[in-house]
Amino acid sequence: MKLTIIGTGYVGLVTGTCLAEKGHDVLCVDNDPAKIAMLQAGQIPIYEPGLEPLIRSNVAAGRLRFTTDTAEGVRHGHVVFIGVPTPPRADGSVDMRFVERVARDVASAMTEYRIIVDKSTVPVKTGFKVAESIKRYNKAGVDFDVISNPEFMREGCAVEDQMKPERIVIGVASQRPVATMQEVYAPFNAPIIVTDINSAELIKHASNSFLALKISYANALSALCEASHANIQQVVDGIGMDKRIGRAFLNAGLGYGGSCFPKDISAFIAIAQELGCDFRLLKEVQNINANQLQRFVKRIQDTLWVLQDKVIAVLGLAFKANTDDARCSPAVDLVLALQKEGAHIRAYDPQAMEKARPLLPNVTLCADPYEAVRGADAMIIATEWDEFKELDFGRIKPLMAHPTLFDGRNLLDPMTMKNLGFTYLSVGR
Ligand code: UDX
Repeated sequence: MKLTIIGTGYVGLVTGTCLAEKGHDVLCVDNDPAKIAMLQAGQIPIYEPGLEPLIRSNVAAGRLRFTTDTAEGVRHGHVVFIGVPTPPRADGSVDMRFVERVARDVASAMTEYRIIVDKSTVPVKTGFKVAESIKRYNKAGVDFDVISNPEFMREGCAVEDQMKPERIVIGVASQRPVATMQEVYAPFNAPIIVTDINSAELIKHASNSFLALKISYANALSALCEASHANIQQVVDGIGMDKRIGRAFLNAGLGYGGSCFPKDISAFIAIAQELGCDFRLLKEVQNINANQLQRFVKRIQDTLWVLQDKVIAVLGLAFKANTDDARCSPAVDLVLALQKEGAHIRAYDPQAMEKARPLLPNVTLCADPYEAVRGADAMIIATEWDEFKELDFGRIKPLMAHPTLFDGRNLLDPMTMKNLGFTYLSVGR
């Protein structure tokens, strides 16, 4: 089927590529000429495992193309996906200007029936607003359907999540677009749940909020474990074996970050507020998350006493492993908090250094972990990269001024580290 994706960020590019991989004829549109030129030249603007070869093979097969021309996109795709950013505003609510702009552009270019699919994460009731907007700006009076089809991709495994989705949510106002959408997603062999538009939009925010809630629950428990000398890992393993709870997203650490959870939780609180509902539970999720980082900083201070002029090596700047994304990264927030206390930071990340650089102008970025720990009074693991598990700690120890290690992701085994001669502190263990 001929499909168009508007927006070539994480969501749009991965969605478009995976739809092409499943045999569809996909045209990706972006209003950033530099990005489209890059993609047309075979270069990939983001780091996402598995994406590059998939883009190359689908471009070579003629199933995936790129353009800056929205009208060309609207002519091409029977189904037009909107995958543009929905950034937060200062008050936590969602800035809808990009979605609204695309709705207007699509409306003016539409000359025959189209299904317009909201892929971006949007507040409940957006579908109706998009439909209203299209109706207003579509001078030709062409028939169309707007549907909501939220994505559930995680950065770092977005391709896998998109190729093998656990469920596909399709929110519709009528039955008319359902068969076409079922055809679009048939090759994915995943359960399709058809809902009304508002419910589909709520499912997305509700999913991310629930996952953040699970993480905050584990983090709140980790404080209890520290106070009672229990072990958070054993506690979450124990409760996670109950199928009703599940073990996933119960890893205590520095708190959740990234471009989705912090923004989506704030947005969901603001959306609820606007609807007259005070979602206090989610406000507490946010409080626990902020407090978790502060608790970690306090433990570092308690151990090192004074941070002024201490050299601290921070391993990991990405908000989680397997991504180069440092937006809303707890690791970056941690560095800033330590710098505020006068510490000198030497940092290393396998992928996120370039993206973190502008966020951390006064940090010494190092070529490898061994360079980062040179002369350090302490080192911190701030992102759970596998490569940090494999470090040669026998080599690291003599490089440091003192072998103190704060493991913000519970990546290493406490006993092993102690036996290696490290003063080792982790989260809730
Ligand atoms: C998330 C959702 O998982 C995805 O479905 C949605 O489409 C976009 O938002 P992402 O932001 O890529 O994906 O990251 P995710 O893997 O969910 O992790 C979010 C944050 O939670 C990271 O900072 C991670 O380190 C943290 N986390 C995750 C924990 O602290 N503990 C856990 O147990 C799991």
